[in-house]
Amino acid sequence: MVFCLTFTLVGQKLAKKRSLSALSRASPLGASMIVRGLWFGRLLILATIGCLGIARAQEPGPLANPRSQTQVGFPATLYGWVIPADNPQTPEKIALGKALFFDDRLSEDGTISCDHCHGPAKGFTDQLPTSMGIHNQFGQRNAPTILNALFNTTQFWDGRAPTLEEQAKQPILNPIEMGMKSPEEVVAKIKAVPEYNDKFHKIFGREVNFDDMARAIASYERTQFVFDTPFDHYMAGDQSAISDSAKRGWSVFNGKGRCMSCHAWDPTQPLFSDFKFHNIGVSAHKSDFVPLARKALGILAQGASSQQIDQLAIQTDMSGLGRFLVTKQPHDIGGFRTMGLRNLLVTQPYFHDGSQQTLWDTIDHYNKGGVQNPFLDGGIVPLGLSENEEDDLVAFLATLTSPEYQPMAKKEYDAQFKRSRTDRPQRDTNAAMGLNGRNGPGFGGPFGDIGPAQNAMGENPALLGGD
Ligand code: HEC
Ligand code: HEC
Repeated sequence: MVFCLTFTLVGQKLAKKRSLSALSRASPLGASMIVRGLWFGRLLILATIGCLGIARAQEPGPLANPRSQTQVGFPATLYGWVIPADNPQTPEKIALGKALFFDDRLSEDGTISCDHCHGPAKGFTDQLPTSMGIHNQFGQRNAPTILNALFNTTQFWDGRAPTLEEQAKQPILNPIEMGMKSPEEVVAKIKAVPEYNDKFHKIFGREVNFDDMARAIASYERTQFVFDTPFDHYMAGDQSAISDSAKRGWSVFNGKGRCMSCHAWDPTQPLFSDFKFHNIGVSAHKSDFVPLARKALGILAQGASSQQIDQLAIQTDMSGLGRFLVTKQPHDIGGFRTMGLRNLLVTQPYFHDGSQQTLWDTIDHYNKGGVQNPFLDGGIVPLGLSENEEDDLVAFLATLTSPEYQPMAKKEYDAQFKRSRTDRPQRDTNAAMGLNGRNGPGFGGPFGDIGPAQNAMGENPALLGGD
């Protein structure tokens, strides 16, 4: 069985290469890949029929296919609203966007496609703390999932892109992600592939251009919605869809845990996010906010393009300033977008810097009142959750797993559970229960964790300039 699975995975990788090279028949390398690909493809089909019976060598795997709208919990009305009038969904455009999403040629050295960091088999993430782009360079931020990103009111952890279309352009041009030098360079590369050139003409009725590329990619991403979880079934009336522990966890989520105040859920907006920005203390672990904000203002004052802000966010220590890089408002320092909570057990690790390994660690972070800093959201306070309540909360979060990810998520849940019994780096029970007070100057309350240099700050953060 292990052999069969390995074989299928290897086969899929090769099948992917094969179909990509089919788009560049002009090159002799492409031709030889097709021959090799076909040979492997046949072997693969025989092997998978033999091993699994039904599995097909589909490129780049069934988890990348557009999803069905018949899922329990699918917000049909909301879906209608989020498809932009100037970029309607068509099967041809979606197929083009899919090909682009999986095409390494969109990167400077031909090694990195969107799926490198947003792989369907990893819940459209890379499961790394922070992402690695061309020439093995690591950025500062964790790759969020593409799943349900169509419903986000802004894109990126700091909301710096208003739409999926605008978002898609940034990684292509970011020097350490895909590293293309300019939109013109990307367009020239795509135009040179006859199949792409034909498709663009057919679909958009004009020359290949960067905006249409982004439109096609965004259309593909808008096919990646996932619901139909045990929780969705529970909310639709099936009392037996989730365990008693998960039901208790749902109560903690709504009550004592205060999660619902930011991770909002209702039947018309079932995304578990208010889509607002909050400083919950994640980057306070390592950022000394005020000097960093001053440094950022110095750079942003010269007028920053979206590409420059992207580079500050991905490539510099100013990344931890979050939403502030976009608005320059002091109250946005260290603020990040409330992330949705679906399929968390395939999108680990957690938070914008991937700093937490398990769901227990993220809940320990909230339980002790986050990490104190002058910009901490008022909604982050010590919670006093017991161990059992934390276990229940994780059991609830685990019910937010869509059917196609259940086996993977079960494995990850087991691994995290095991780890949580012995290894809890963020746990601070006394702080969570409000027992140990650490009264840093200017804070005046019982807190468990204070970010470096935050309590030695000489200046009033409220006076920090913005415009
Ligand atoms: C080198 C890794 C890497 C590559 C390649 C990459 N991304 Fe990302 N992606 C990230 C990271 C990291 C973030 C978060 C960055 C941030 O918020 O500042 C992100 C954010 C996103 C988001 C926002 C999701 C949300 O919830 O806000 C979308 C959508 C997305 N990427 C799509 C794409 C597309 C489309 C491509 C290809 C054109 C692509 N990405 C290429 C790493 C990558
Ligand atoms: C004040 C608003 C707020 C409250 C209350 C809140 N969250 Fe969050 N949550 C956020 C924000 C903002 C982020 C992203 C923070 C970051 O990465 O810097 C986040 C991120 C997360 C993540 C990581 C998601 C990912 O993809 O990495 C999990 C899990 C999570 N929250 C669970 C919870 C739970 C469980 C509770 C209740 C105990 C809770 N949150 C309460 C705002 C909140």
